[in-house]
Amino acid sequence: MTDVRIGIIGGGLMGRELVGVCGRWDLLVDHPARARVVAVADPAPAAREWFACVDSVTTLTDDWRHLVGSDDIDVLYIAVPHDLHEEIYTAAAQAGRDFLAEKPFGIDRGAAERVVTAIDASSAFVRVSSEFPFYPGAQRAYAYAASGALGDILDVRAGFWHSSDLNRAKPINWKRRAKTCGPVGVMGDLGLHVAHMPLRLGWRPVSVYARLDDVVSERPGPDGTLVACDTWDNALLVCGVHPRAGGRDFTMLWETRRIAPGHVNTWFFNAVGMDGGVRFSTRQPTLLHRFRLDGSEHVWEELQPGNVSSWPVVSGAIFEFGFGDALLQMWASYLAERAGALGDRFGTATPAEALDAHRVFDAALRSWQGQGLAAP
Ligand SMILES: NC(=O)c1ccc[n+]([C@@H]2O[C@H](COP(=O)([O-])OP(=O)(O)OC[C@H]3O[C@@H](n4cnc5c(N)ncnc54)[C@H](O)[C@@H]3O)[C@@H](O)[C@H]2O)c1
Repeated sequence: MTDVRIGIIGGGLMGRELVGVCGRWDLLVDHPARARVVAVADPAPAAREWFACVDSVTTLTDDWRHLVGSDDIDVLYIAVPHDLHEEIYTAAAQAGRDFLAEKPFGIDRGAAERVVTAIDASSAFVRVSSEFPFYPGAQRAYAYAASGALGDILDVRAGFWHSSDLNRAKPINWKRRAKTCGPVGVMGDLGLHVAHMPLRLGWRPVSVYARLDDVVSERPGPDGTLVACDTWDNALLVCGVHPRAGGRDFTMLWETRRIAPGHVNTWFFNAVGMDGGVRFSTRQPTLLHRFRLDGSEHVWEELQPGNVSSWPVVSGAIFEFGFGDALLQMWASYLAERAGALGDRFGTATPAEALDAHRVFDAALRSWQGQGLAAP
C-alpha cells in the first residue's frame, strides 16, 4: 500500500469533506493507496484554522502556488470557486502535478477547453469529482444499462434536485453570482453529477433544447441589502442522443434544480428501453428498481443493492451507504486508477467528460437565448 500525501487547495466545504474521507480510509479492504491530507492552501484565515487540529496536516499556507511547487505532495485536490479553476488547474497541469479537480471544471466551456489542452500536453493524471454514481444502487443501474439489457432505449431521465436555495432569505454567496459561478449557473454546480453516468454509457447529446429559470433574482448581501442573484436556479435540458454503441436515437432529460420543493439532495437516474428499465434515486438509496417483460406482464422488480461498493469496505454488505461513503469510493477509484489498479471498476469523471458536459451546458444557454434546438 502506497502512502499518498494530498495537498488541498481551497479549504472550504469540500476541502473539509476530504479530511472525513481520509479519516475513514482504513475501512477500505486491500486498496493500493493510503490517503492523508498533509497541506492546505487557502487565503481565508478561518479556513486554514479549521485544519490546524488535523494531525496529518503539517503545512498551512495562503498561497496555492506553494502547494503546486511542493515536492512533499503527491496529489492535489483543488476545490475553489469556479472563476479560479482555469488558472489553478492549468498551473497544476503545467507543473505535472496529479490532481482531482472539482466540477464544473472551469467557469465555462472556453475555460474547460483550455484546461484540457494543458492537461493533454502534460503528464498529470487528472480526474473530476463526481461521487453519486458510486452509490451501490447507481453502480448496479449503470451495469444493467451498460449490459444492453434495456434493448432499444426510449427514454432516459437523470437529475439532481438540490433545494439548497428554497429559502429566499439565504444570503448571496459566490455560487449564486454569474461572475464567480459561471454563466451556466446551476448546470455548473450540479450538471456534471447528472452528466457523468450517461456520458460514460456513451449517451452523448447531439442536440439540446433547454428551459432555464432564475427563480430568485435577488438575495441579501453581507449587510442585508438585496443584491442581484444572477445565476440560473433550475435547468431542464431535453437532449437528443445518438448512442455511441449504435441503435436508434432517443431522448434524454437532464434536470438540475437548486429549487425543488420536496427534495433535498435527490440524485437520480432512470432509463427505460424496449426490453428493460432501471431506476435509482438517492432518495431511497437502499432500493433499485428494474423493469422486465415477463411474457405480456410488465414487471418492475425491487432489489436491495446493499452496501456492495466498487471498493470493498470492512463494514460489509449490510450497513447503509451515504454521501460520505460515495466520496470515499470516488477517492478510492481516483487513487486506484492513478496507481494503475482500477481494473474494470467504474472510474471517476474524466476531463474529456467534464468538457463534454460543458459543451452541453453551453448549448443549453444558446438554446434558451433564442436558438431553440442547439448543437453541443
Ligand atoms: N463534489 C461535490 O459534491 C461538490 C459539492 C460542493 C461543491 N463542489 C465544488 O467544489 C468547489 C468548491 O466548493 P465548496 O463548496 O467547497 O466552496 P467553499 O466556498 O465552501 O470553499 C471554497 C474555498 O476556496 C477558498 N479560496 C478562495 N480563493 C482561493 C485561492 N486563491 N486559493 C485557495 N483557496 C481559495 C475559499 O477561501 C474557500 O475556503 C467548487 O468547484 C464546487 O462546485 C463539489
